[in-house]
Amino acid sequence: MVDNSLIRLEGLRKWFPIRKGLRRKPSGYIKAVDDVSFDIKQRETLGLVGESGCGKTTIARCMLRAIEPTSGHVYYRKDGSFIDLTALEPDDLRNIRQEMRLIFQDPYSSLNPRMTVRNLIAEPLIVNGVARGAELELKVADLLQKVGLRPEYMRRYPHAFSGGQRQRIGIARALALDPNFVICDEPVSALDVSVQAQILNLLQDLQTEMGLTYLFISHDLGVIHHISDRIVVMYVGKVVELGYAESIFRRPTHPYSAALLSSAPVPNPELRSEKGQRAVLRGEVPDAGSPPSGCYFHPRCSHAQDKCRNEYPDLRSISNSGNGEHLVACHFAEQFSFKGVFDDFEAGGST
Ligand SMILES: Nc1ncnc2c1ncn2[C@@H]1O[C@H](COP(=O)(O)OP(=O)(O)OP(=O)(O)O)[C@@H](O)[C@H]1O
Ligand SMILES: [Mg+2]
Repeated sequence: MVDNSLIRLEGLRKWFPIRKGLRRKPSGYIKAVDDVSFDIKQRETLGLVGESGCGKTTIARCMLRAIEPTSGHVYYRKDGSFIDLTALEPDDLRNIRQEMRLIFQDPYSSLNPRMTVRNLIAEPLIVNGVARGAELELKVADLLQKVGLRPEYMRRYPHAFSGGQRQRIGIARALALDPNFVICDEPVSALDVSVQAQILNLLQDLQTEMGLTYLFISHDLGVIHHISDRIVVMYVGKVVELGYAESIFRRPTHPYSAALLSSAPVPNPELRSEKGQRAVLRGEVPDAGSPPSGCYFHPRCSHAQDKCRNEYPDLRSISNSGNGEHLVACHFAEQFSFKGVFDDFEAGGST
C-alpha cells in the first residue's frame, strides 16, 4: 500500500439489481461501480470525472457507507494503520464519519430552510457532543469566518443568502467536526460561473489551512483542471484512465479521455492549439445494465479493432511524458498521440 495514501479503494463494486414485475429474482444488474481501485493521497485533490451515470456519486456513497458496496474494500488510514470501512460495525462507523464529510451539489435543497445559520452549523457539533454553551457559539462564529461569512449573519435563514453564500454555509457545516477527508460532489455546478471560482478558491484555501484531502467529483473539466492534483476518468462504472492532472490534460492516452477533453469548452477558443489527433465524442453512453462486449467504449471509438470488441482491456501502467503513475485501460494506448488541452485551459485562465 502506498505510504502517503489516506484512502484506498480495492475492487469496489456496486451492482443494483434490476427487478421486473413481481419476480423476486433479479433479471440482471446495473453495474454502477464495477471493480474500481485507486488511492487518494493525504492532502491531495483527486478529481473524479466522467459523463452522467458513470458511477461517480455511487462511489462516494459507498465510501461513506451511505449505501453498502456489493463487494470490495474501502481502506482509511487512522493513527498510522489502515482500517477497512466496509467491515466496520455501526458504532465505529459513526466515529469515522466525523472525519469523512460530504459537500453537496445543491446548496438550495441541502440546507433545512427552517433552521437558522447558527443552528445549521451548530447541529453536527451538538449531535456529536463536540461543544456546547459559549464554546459552541465561538465555534460557530469561527466556522462562519473561515468560510468568509460574517458572524452577524448567524440568526438569518438560508433563503436570505445567495447561492454562493449558501454553499459557504454548506461548507461550514461539512467542516464543523474538523474532518480529514471531504468528498465534494459537484459542489459548484449549481452556481453561477462568476461565483464558481470564489468557491473553488475557498475550498483550496481551506485545504491548505486544515490539511484536508479531497475527492472532487465534477463533469466540468474546467473545474477539474482548476482544482485537481490527479484525475480518475470513469466510463460506465469503470476506471479508464488515472494519472496526474497535468499529464492527462497535456496528453490523454485513452480515446475516451481524449474525446472528453476535446469536447470541453475551453475558456478562450481562439487560443486553441491544434497539434496531435483530435478525438470526437459521438454516440450515447451505454446502459450500465447491458454494456457492450469487450471494451465498453468500443462502439463510440473511431480506433476500435477486433480485440476491442472481444476483450475488456485491463487497467495497466503506461509510460507517459508526465511524471508519476499513469494507468490506462486501452489495448492500443501506445499507438495514439491525442491532442491535450492543458495549454488551452492555462491560456484562458481556466475557471
Ligand atoms: N439506487 C439506485 N438504484 C438503481 N440504480 C441506481 C441507483 N443509484 C444509481 N443508479 C444507477 O447507477 C448508475 C450510476 O449512477 P451515479 O448517480 O453514481 O452516476 P454519476 O456519475 O454520479 O452521474 P451524474 O453525473 O449524473 O451525477 C446510473 O446508471 C444510475 O442510474
Ligand atoms: Mg452524481
